[in-house]
Amino acid sequence: MSTSPSAPGPESKGHIEQAGASDESIQRVHAILIREKEEPKEGFTPMPLFLLGFISAMIFLGAVYFVHYRGDFDPLVYDYRFDAAAAKAAASAPKELTPEQIIGKGRILYNTCASCHTPSGMGVAGAFPPLAASEWVTGSEERLIRLLIHGLAGPIVVKGLPYNGNMPAFGPGGGYNWNDAKIAQVLTFIRQEWGNTAPPITPEKVAEIRKAESARAKPWSEAELQPFEEP
Ligand code: HEC
Repeated sequence: MSTSPSAPGPESKGHIEQAGASDESIQRVHAILIREKEEPKEGFTPMPLFLLGFISAMIFLGAVYFVHYRGDFDPLVYDYRFDAAAAKAAASAPKELTPEQIIGKGRILYNTCASCHTPSGMGVAGAFPPLAASEWVTGSEERLIRLLIHGLAGPIVVKGLPYNGNMPAFGPGGGYNWNDAKIAQVLTFIRQEWGNTAPPITPEKVAEIRKAESARAKPWSEAELQPFEEP
């Protein structure tokens, strides 16, 4: 844009143009400006109290609003089908598991047993007795629950074959320390898997036997469990 021929540069005229203001007039104007300007001060100006109060009030009101409308941080509150009152009631009510859910949980818990009794429940001949079609599993629940809580040691016979190993305790004494629900779930699972068709075991029954045998601190022997053979 500076290439326009009608805009001559300073050298094109050949002389310096007369300035519109003299040194004197410039000094005069500045003297006025300097005089009328406020002297710069050291330090800082505090925030006006009104502004401070206003910002504090806004933060406080924002917090109140947020607490009131946070919806328990549940993303579901944005769903129009969501019934907050019903959800709260459902969360506080004790959860009843369906038989399928109990078996499902038992199946997962059985992974712990499967390392010895094998996933198929067939066991290892001479080392780990089978749980499939075992009279210990499908028979008396009194005997089965006792066996799992405190373990079993010494010679036993399962499906006509002798074993002599150590079945770990899953109650308080052993390393597992499973609660009543877990014990009931895994026992219900092994009683209804691999063709077994024994009735389920409830956590209440496990609790009852745990209480009755609370004084016991060592694994059972086959002879000691004999009295509980009948249901
Ligand atoms: C460390 C290996 C091991 C683990 C883990 C184990 N068991 Fe056993 N279990 C044995 C042995 C060994 C015996 C036989 C004990 C004996 O010879 O006195 C046995 C015996 C049994 C018996 C009685 C005999 C039979 O075969 O019916 C049942 C029932 C049983 N276990 C269930 C379970 C369940 C349920 C679990 C998992 C919660 C489990 N076991 C975990 C090793 C194990």
